[in-house]
Amino acid sequence: MVAPSSDLAAAAAPAAGRLAAVQDLARLLRLLFEAEREFVRTAPTLIPRVGAPELKYLLCQHVWESAGHARFLRERGRELSGFGAGESVRPALRRLFTEAVTPADADVALAGFYGVLKPALLAAYRHYLAVTDHLADWPSKRLVAEFIADEERHAREMARYLGSAASGPWATQLAAALAALGGLLGETAPRPLPPGFVWHQDASPYRHPDTCNRGPYPVCASVFGHDPAEVPIVRPWLVDPKTDARVVRIMVYVWLLMELDAVDYLSTVFFDTPEAPFDLHHDLARHLWDESRHSQFGFRQLPKLGVDLATVEHSLDLYVILVRMAPHERYALMTMEFEAGSFPTKAAVMDRIRELNDFEADTLLAFDRNDEQNHVRYGHRWLPEIMALCGETRPVEEFVRATQEKFRACAAQFGGRTPHGLPPERRLTGEKILRLVAGA
Ligand SMILES: [Fe+2]
Ligand SMILES: [Fe+2]
Repeated sequence: MVAPSSDLAAAAAPAAGRLAAVQDLARLLRLLFEAEREFVRTAPTLIPRVGAPELKYLLCQHVWESAGHARFLRERGRELSGFGAGESVRPALRRLFTEAVTPADADVALAGFYGVLKPALLAAYRHYLAVTDHLADWPSKRLVAEFIADEERHAREMARYLGSAASGPWATQLAAALAALGGLLGETAPRPLPPGFVWHQDASPYRHPDTCNRGPYPVCASVFGHDPAEVPIVRPWLVDPKTDARVVRIMVYVWLLMELDAVDYLSTVFFDTPEAPFDLHHDLARHLWDESRHSQFGFRQLPKLGVDLATVEHSLDLYVILVRMAPHERYALMTMEFEAGSFPTKAAVMDRIRELNDFEADTLLAFDRNDEQNHVRYGHRWLPEIMALCGETRPVEEFVRATQEKFRACAAQFGGRTPHGLPPERRLTGEKILRLVAGA
């Protein structure tokens, strides 16, 4: 903990002594760090709830950039007297961001984040730039100027997704909670909460949805299987040397597109680990952004190969099963089972793709593989910490084995329930991929 008080206004008050200016500015940097941290903790809850894949991708990118802001702020802050050694967040600030996740309607929640909290963050950065000495505090100034440009870009990138909710009653509620703090830096006089104000987080705390939203896209339980008349990714075909490499290429792009399921379930882990060290959330944010890029590989490349994305069903089973398990179980399965177990098949697929002299496909798959190796490293680094946060005391290997067992039981209970959104004649299947390639 750095500040003895949870009062944000007090944190912005002048400090006494020779280093007063440094300490004042360090406190502001500290508040900015905490605000970015809180965005990273809470904004991912939007991701499984919004439907458009492009919006999910954009949120992943913003969360990752916020994690980068927070880390640079922490690095710079630690050079200054008064920033503090710890990483904890003031309860009042945490309460504000926890409130932001509560609306049941994803569009309303999105509007709260991007219509109230992000503009407040931009205003806070501008305030910092205005009150600091541009020569004395040049290192912070350089960072903050860059972050302002990022925040302005985030606002532009998100504008087309914000509807009328941005000015509705929820925005008023959140703005009142923010005004009671005096802004994110305590830069304005705090205004008392209006009479009758009720914190939604007390009345109806947030919980993750039982299934994730894919907007206009058809859904199903799983895209993997053995029947080419039913599913697009025919498991034996992936590793059969007789399969046309062009078929393998389409199947692997469908596989990559479906990494959107990893995006949706990994998003749930941040909010469920509020006491995580910042570096854990930083690496989760990187992991999340990587998965969103992998999914974009498929989203971008499939139409170029003649696949109509409206015919590709999205598999929801992993989200549906994992959201019913604990956060450390989700993370263990993701890193120690799904990712660690995917390398042999992906290696075989990459060898087949190389036959096509498709430089772009080779490049995308090579980066996917490199990223996945990092994800498994993250798993080894962070799983013991997430286990500890969740009160798990068994040795890691024993816990992973037990979790694999539990996953099988949960899959039997909750998996396979999402009906096909399209009949076989309209959805992309292995047979359709064969025909598509034959006609190319
Ligand atoms: Fe991935
Ligand atoms: Fe991964």
